[in-house]
Amino acid sequence: MENSEFRSLLGNKTKEIDGILEKFLPEEKGIQRTVIEAMNYSVRAGGKRLRPMLMWETFLLCGGREEERRMVEPFMAAIEMIHTYSLVHDDLPAMDNDEYRRGKKTTWAVYGETMGILAGDGLLNLAFETAAKSFELCGCGGNGDTETCFPEHLPRAARALAVLAGKAGIYGMIGGQTADIEAENCDTTVTEERLLFIHEHKTAALIQAAMVIGAILAGAGEEVLGRLEKCAYDVGVAFQIQDDILDVIGDSSTLGKPIGSDALNGKQTYVTLKGLEQAGKDVEKLSGEAVGLLESMGTDNVFLKQLILELIHRQK
Ligand code: IPE
Ligand code: IPE
Ligand code: MG
Ligand code: MG
Ligand code: MG
Repeated sequence: MENSEFRSLLGNKTKEIDGILEKFLPEEKGIQRTVIEAMNYSVRAGGKRLRPMLMWETFLLCGGREEERRMVEPFMAAIEMIHTYSLVHDDLPAMDNDEYRRGKKTTWAVYGETMGILAGDGLLNLAFETAAKSFELCGCGGNGDTETCFPEHLPRAARALAVLAGKAGIYGMIGGQTADIEAENCDTTVTEERLLFIHEHKTAALIQAAMVIGAILAGAGEEVLGRLEKCAYDVGVAFQIQDDILDVIGDSSTLGKPIGSDALNGKQTYVTLKGLEQAGKDVEKLSGEAVGLLESMGTDNVFLKQLILELIHRQK
């Protein structure tokens, strides 16, 4: 695909995801209005929308059809809500203490620390309220309209929900954030094994959730799910290594978040462990392996492959 065509598709797909998120964001009313405003502020601040995009593209890769989209949309919104909550909490003074995210003031910097905590909690819960909406769309609604009836979706949605919960939790993202914080300002050098645990859990887990859920909702079999989980591991670890690189050599106005945050927090990152040059090589290697796994699947999604390769040189 020509680069100009890819860029234009990427822009359109990002806007579509923004539109999907809007459908599920809560109205800013009621006595609890402040927390809702803070939640919407953090989601509407933007972001690349990579996880919902990976979910949808993997759904298509695995034979999912455009007309089934309304059953995938609640999960697309849910994964972005969980990702956004993880950023809202990650930026808190007690964690990375950052004041700039997605080109704007962080949620806590605008709404205060307490609302930052509650907005993160609110988004995490809303994610599951939203994903559960997928179940409502499984039956025919009693109208006998077989065109809109996907009863096979019910067990798929149930399994997808379990994956979402697991990959976001203590054996996924929260587990990784815990290890990340405990490795801060540590006297001993973190081992490669431990750093890979951090990267796999704090970042790759949600990317695995995105791709595996896309595949589950399309009805993929166990072998394909295993391959995609490995592919998403490679994409996710490469993504976090690149994030560590950009924290050193990125441009904060392009990134929309501060650079130098890791050094300031005494973090041991892939760059402190292996150096910038090796880190860059590993991003390339892992991304190549991810695309190789996709190519071994016998079905194709040109946009998805190009997206993974574009992430190697991303500047934001
Ligand atoms: C940032 O994720 C946090 C990491 C896991 C490295 P993204 O780089 O996907 O952030 P947004 O969603 O585009 O803001
Ligand atoms: C964040 O890692 C991972 C999660 C939020 C789960 P970082 O702390 O490196 O992410 P940024 O650099 O603040 O986006
Ligand atoms: Mg962090
Ligand atoms: Mg951070
Ligand atoms: Mg970072």
